[in-house]
Amino acid sequence: MTETKMEKPSQPIQFIDLKSQQDRIRPEIDKSIQKVLDHGQYVMGPEVFELEKQLAEFSHRKYVVSCASGTDALTMALMAMEVGPGQAVFVPSFTFTATAEVVAALGATPVFVDVDEHTFNLCSDSLEQAIDMVKKDYSSLKPSAVIPVDLFGQPADHDQIKEIADKNGLWVLVDAAQSAGATYKGKSTLSKGLMATTSFFPAKPLGAYGDGGAIFTDDEGLAAKLKAIRIHGQGSDRNENICIGLTGRLDTLQAAILIEKLNIFREEINLRQKVADYYTDHLKDVVQVPYVMDGCASVWAQYTLRIPGKNNLDLQKVLKEKEIPTAVYYPRPLHLQPAYNKFPVAPDGLRNTMQLSEQVISLPMSPYVAEATQDYIIEGITKEFQ
Ligand SMILES: Cc1ncc(COP(=O)(O)O)c(C=O)c1O
Repeated sequence: MTETKMEKPSQPIQFIDLKSQQDRIRPEIDKSIQKVLDHGQYVMGPEVFELEKQLAEFSHRKYVVSCASGTDALTMALMAMEVGPGQAVFVPSFTFTATAEVVAALGATPVFVDVDEHTFNLCSDSLEQAIDMVKKDYSSLKPSAVIPVDLFGQPADHDQIKEIADKNGLWVLVDAAQSAGATYKGKSTLSKGLMATTSFFPAKPLGAYGDGGAIFTDDEGLAAKLKAIRIHGQGSDRNENICIGLTGRLDTLQAAILIEKLNIFREEINLRQKVADYYTDHLKDVVQVPYVMDGCASVWAQYTLRIPGKNNLDLQKVLKEKEIPTAVYYPRPLHLQPAYNKFPVAPDGLRNTMQLSEQVISLPMSPYVAEATQDYIIEGITKEFQ
């Protein structure tokens, strides 16, 4: 980047540029939609099973059960393990609502845990303290499961979390809604936990053109249960209900679109890394750039800066005046939300969560951000810290 004043790009900067991707694969998408219209199997059509097969190969997982959203994926995973009243499920407070919502919706108790100040993911010390607190102070609750979130596309410390979970008799559900395509010690985040779930919301790294999600597991019995749950608990015969379920299916049209997107996903992951590296190279001396653990790779669902000493919402306003769109995830931690403020919180008061909610800001990110656009964004931010 040169020292001269950067030109504002002629087109409005997109926070997530879905249009460039669509332009690239539009003929393939049109063809695959046409194919579904021709065969007419709109629900549980062949594309759903083909996508599940391809996702199993991609994640190196034995079973993939697609479903209607990332939220349904979490719900179905908890339902399959019969999570309900009297069970404590440990979740970060610094995450999207769905992670805790599904626990509370099933009548179980979310227990809010702090995150690590560098990775923004579940903090192992805080998790251990929260488990001890529940054992000591909440005799009516059984510590049951933990849901680490791979926030912004960065893997949580899955080995460490598994060790703590095993020691305390918990099972692990990885909320990989933001991390499909990321790796932890060389392995897909979707291969972690007893089950991992993801979201195909359009803005996600692997996004559909509507809602969608999937559950990944190596457990045959759980996979069978999940398949029943997604169709009203249907057994081998359609008039038999073996358990309580949902209308949790992924539409055939979305599956067809996702197959085309998966075709270019590996290349897009590399492009995302290039965009992230460029931001990091030019902003590392200006603000706190994202930290990725050794041996891990983020899929950069978000490229998120930390800006101690400045308020994120104030910076967002200034950047908006320069027509640089940003997002603040998440300005109000879950444990402070009216819907969740009655649930237990880890003993230390979630210090990192509180700080991050005022200090993080996410920059425009997609595989298709042009270098000139990045230069303009970088200059806009640099000026605020001079
Ligand atoms: C961490 C996390 N969990 C769960 C979800 C829920 O996914 P969906 O919107 O597909 O229901 C999201 C979506 O934003 C998410 O970011």
